[in-house]
Amino acid sequence: MGILEIKNVGKRFGGLQALSNVNLSVAENTVHAIIGPNGAGKSTLLNCLVGKLIPDSGSVMFDGQSVLGRAPYEINQMGISRVFQTPEIFGDLTVMENMMIPCFAKRDGAFELNALPSVRNQKDVVEHAMHMLEEMRMADKRHMHAAAMSRGDKRRLEIGMCLSQEPRLLLLDEPTAGMARADTNNTIDLLKQIKEERDITIAIIEHDMHVVFSLADRITVLAQGTPLVEDSPEKIKGHPKVREAYLGESA
Ligand SMILES: Nc1ncnc2c1ncn2[C@@H]1O[C@H](COP(=O)(O)OP(=O)(O)O)[C@@H](O)[C@H]1O
Ligand SMILES: [Mg+2]
Repeated sequence: MGILEIKNVGKRFGGLQALSNVNLSVAENTVHAIIGPNGAGKSTLLNCLVGKLIPDSGSVMFDGQSVLGRAPYEINQMGISRVFQTPEIFGDLTVMENMMIPCFAKRDGAFELNALPSVRNQKDVVEHAMHMLEEMRMADKRHMHAAAMSRGDKRRLEIGMCLSQEPRLLLLDEPTAGMARADTNNTIDLLKQIKEERDITIAIIEHDMHVVFSLADRITVLAQGTPLVEDSPEKIKGHPKVREAYLGESA
């Protein structure tokens, strides 16, 4: 049993079957990559895991509990955090101020200080944010406006904001999209460090095969809304169907 078990998930948008018969099991403390061409349904699948979409059929279980029908903040509190494709940070706020945000949970339109059991007052918020900045090796940048940072550092901050909620499952949707090589490598190094230092499971959607093969323990190839093949990175690299469907264009 994986920490995340997706069974027979289907999702239709009008006349388009975006996902059909998706079965996926993600083992605890591994990095599982989901790759596939544009429009394959990767983001739709991720949206079904975090309460942004409800599948038409199938089940999604996280650590034995269904996530379906739960509000995003509830899923977050179950231990799932997600990094979006475009960094969701506040450019006008400082790095430190951004890092304090995840201490608050947005619930029914209001912010509450109940995101983490250990963070109960203003002093805890400051300490927790500072600790996370140190872990992310960003403490020296704490007074900078977030907008002034490099793409790679914005991503680092955003991943830190997710980790500050102590998730057991981190979801990343194309974390290096549009990045220069140096920023991409910075992000790969950060994710490798996280993988080594924490008990955490990572599911990553990624186009850049250099990123995928640097990090993944297991890879699922999604094509036209359904898994084409799932295997180890070594096997995926040599898989004729995968090369034909996808890797030909980028490997
Ligand atoms: N909210 C939506 N309404 C209608 N069609 C959508 C919606 N979201 C995604 N789609 C369609 O579903 C398919 C899968 O999209 P998506 O999951 O974003 O693919 P990927 O992330 O793999 O590029 C695409 O054809 C896309 O146009
Ligand atoms: Mg997408």
